[in-house]
Amino acid sequence: SQTKPQILVIFGASGDLTKRKLIPALYELFRQKLLPKEFAVLGVSRTDLDDDAFREKMKEFLPKEDDKKTAVSEFLQMLYYQPLATEDAYDYPVLRDRLTTIAKQNNIAENYIFYLSTPPKLYEIIPANLASVDLNKTEDGFRRLIVEKPFGTDLESAKQLNKNLLNYFNEDQIYRIDHYLGKETVQNMLVTRFANGIFEPIWNHNFIHHVEVTSAESLGVEERGGYYDSSGAMRDMVQNHLMQVVGMVAMEPPVIVEADAIRNEVLKVFQSLRPIKEEDVQNHVIRGQYIESHIKGDLVKGYRQEKGVDPESRTETFMAMKFFIDNWRWSGVPFYIRTGKKLPTRVTEVVIHFKKTPHHLFGTNAGYEHSNNQLVIRIQPDEGILLKFGMKVPGAGFNVQTVNMDFHYDDLRNVHLPSAYERLLLDCMQGDATLYSRGDAVVKAWEYVQPILNAWKNNPEIPVYGYPAGTWGPDVADDLVEDGTWRYPCKN
Ligand code: BG6
Repeated sequence: SQTKPQILVIFGASGDLTKRKLIPALYELFRQKLLPKEFAVLGVSRTDLDDDAFREKMKEFLPKEDDKKTAVSEFLQMLYYQPLATEDAYDYPVLRDRLTTIAKQNNIAENYIFYLSTPPKLYEIIPANLASVDLNKTEDGFRRLIVEKPFGTDLESAKQLNKNLLNYFNEDQIYRIDHYLGKETVQNMLVTRFANGIFEPIWNHNFIHHVEVTSAESLGVEERGGYYDSSGAMRDMVQNHLMQVVGMVAMEPPVIVEADAIRNEVLKVFQSLRPIKEEDVQNHVIRGQYIESHIKGDLVKGYRQEKGVDPESRTETFMAMKFFIDNWRWSGVPFYIRTGKKLPTRVTEVVIHFKKTPHHLFGTNAGYEHSNNQLVIRIQPDEGILLKFGMKVPGAGFNVQTVNMDFHYDDLRNVHLPSAYERLLLDCMQGDATLYSRGDAVVKAWEYVQPILNAWKNNPEIPVYGYPAGTWGPDVADDLVEDGTWRYPCKN
């Protein structure tokens, strides 16, 4: 669909996300001629810069190749900067006037997107300040608000944030970002499921033994120890990104491919999650924290030695959980989520573990795990889909081995795999909220995880298992998976 002339206002323009993700994504959209001709970005933050200084700073994060040079300098001309005391309503007339000026200069209608990429405490303040100068509404254009994660730090704060945003913006103006939904491979899950005749008929409790969502990272907390220590894997990855992935795996076919139809189905999945009671948390959820170890001969710090982290911290850098979706399709099928920092590799994948054949006709010869068919949806890296199935070992007898049918996105020559932020920014510019989380679903996801967080907080006897950096987390996580295993992507 068509992208109208507009101005994107980025609050928190001197922050990391702006230079690492947003500006490069916008540049890529520009290069592919997906931005409207009449378009501008206004960076806003407290740092005192002018347009040129801002452009110089952003340039460092754009490609350096010669043939792209002209595109880069043309793109940079679309960037503007406005220093602002963002928490101070008195400063907002300045912002409003600056926007009007940029709009006039560039012949842009007054369509504005406000992107909140600031410390979360400002999510409450900026919308109110925008409203104080009427920047939240317009007669003939649009005003949209993008809210970065974290969307609340617990159930109460998420509800409160929703309520506060809705004081100034309508739900259809609010775009809550979850960059996992922007990933091409996450969206492709809907196509895999609903555009193929072969998968959907077996996508249920009759044929699926269990479902695994693994998101492993080899990095630790790097420079973000301060933030991470008050967050942990549950808040950082599970409540948002991985729950949304579960939504895509588990939802019913939407009536149409439109924001509300799809998001209704995701909400229904969250509504069907079987609550984990505080007293059951210990048996369903494992938490871990990486400890010092040697990786390939190098000494690697433990989490508690990281900068910004409390030396007695009990924050989880790993968690694994088992849960159920109590509805018709998924009755009795265990779902598992596993995520952690400082694991052996970086990989995010969904593994559909199918049930075994009812009868083992060919015996149990070495290397063959009883027709343990798996469909592996590799979200990243090496994006693709892998189907594992048994075949006869050529030669005498009927020995079976597992082989792979493997599709890699890399095999599609000359196809640009857009980054999550490219996709999401463009969608918002076009007014399409399909890949943004809806307020009610975010709250539902919080409702689900809150008892687990409470149990951890209230019961110090629930262990935080140490695991050496560079390993797959505490061994007890293996015991969670009943009558089956996690997939270990490094090993097979
Ligand atoms: C972010 C988390 O939301 O997602 C990070 O705060 C995490 O801790 C990151 O590393 C993972 O994103 P991706 O796209 O690299 O899988």
